[in-house]
Amino acid sequence: MKRWTVQTVVEAKGKTKLGCVTAYDVAFARLADEAGVPIILVGDSMGNNVLGYSNTLNVELKDTLRAVGAVVRGVKNAMVVADMPFGTYQAGQDQAVANAIRCIKAGADAVKLEGASVETCLLIQRLVSIGVPVLAHVGMQPQSVNVYGGFKKQGKTRESADKVMADARAVEAAGAFMVTLECIPSELAASITAALSIPTIGIGAGPVCDAQWLVMHDLLGLNEQVPGFVRKYADLARTVREAFGAYVADVAASRFP
Ligand code: KIV
Repeated sequence: MKRWTVQTVVEAKGKTKLGCVTAYDVAFARLADEAGVPIILVGDSMGNNVLGYSNTLNVELKDTLRAVGAVVRGVKNAMVVADMPFGTYQAGQDQAVANAIRCIKAGADAVKLEGASVETCLLIQRLVSIGVPVLAHVGMQPQSVNVYGGFKKQGKTRESADKVMADARAVEAAGAFMVTLECIPSELAASITAALSIPTIGIGAGPVCDAQWLVMHDLLGLNEQVPGFVRKYADLARTVREAFGAYVADVAASRFP
C-alpha cells in the first residue's frame, strides 16, 4: 500500500473516491490504517465522541495534540489531519500559525479549519506559504453552532447555496488542497465538486463528492443515535456491551479467571 500524501490525495480526484474516517486513538487508527483508509482526521468531534460534550466547542489544543500523537503512532500509510479546535485559530493570525505548527510538530500531515472569511483565507494562504497544508471546511461548520442556533443544513436557499459555492472557491484560491463540504444539498455538492480543481470531501453532502468522511463512532455503531445520512458498518455498541456483560457474569460466577 502507498503512503497517502497531499499530492496523492489531489491526484485521486476524478479517478478514485476516498472513504475517510475520524479516529482519536492509536488502536482504532491502526485498524483504519490497516484497512486502507487514506485520510484519518483527528476531528474536533472528539468533543462529542470521546469527551462526552454535546458539541465540539470545548475541545482544547492539548486534547488534539495528544490524540494526533496517538493516531500518528498507529498509522503507516494514512495521511493524518489535525482538526484545529475552536478558539485556536480565530483570535489572531500569529497565534493561529503557532497553533497549526504545533499540530504539525505533533505529527499531523495537514491541518483542517472551518470557514472561508477573508481572515480565514489569509490564514490559509499564510499556512500554505510556510509549509502547512490546509484542508478547508465549508457548508455547515459545527464550530458556528451557536450562530446557526443548532446544527442546520446549509445551502438550501439560492442565496445560501451561492455563499457555500463562493466559500469553496475562496478556500481553493487561498491554497487549500481539499475542502470538506458538510451538510449541504447533494446537487450543490455535485456543482462544487465539478467547479473546483481540488478534491471535495463530503459528510452529509451526497454521493458526488471526491471523497467522504464518516465519524468513526457512527460508522462502527459505537454511537447508537446517528445522523440520517450515516451508514453503520458494524454494531460495536452491542458487541462491546455483550463482552463487558459476559465478563462481569463470568467473574461473578467464578468462571474467570
Ligand atoms: O470533527 C469531525 O468529525 C469533522 C467532520 C467533518 C468529519 O470535522
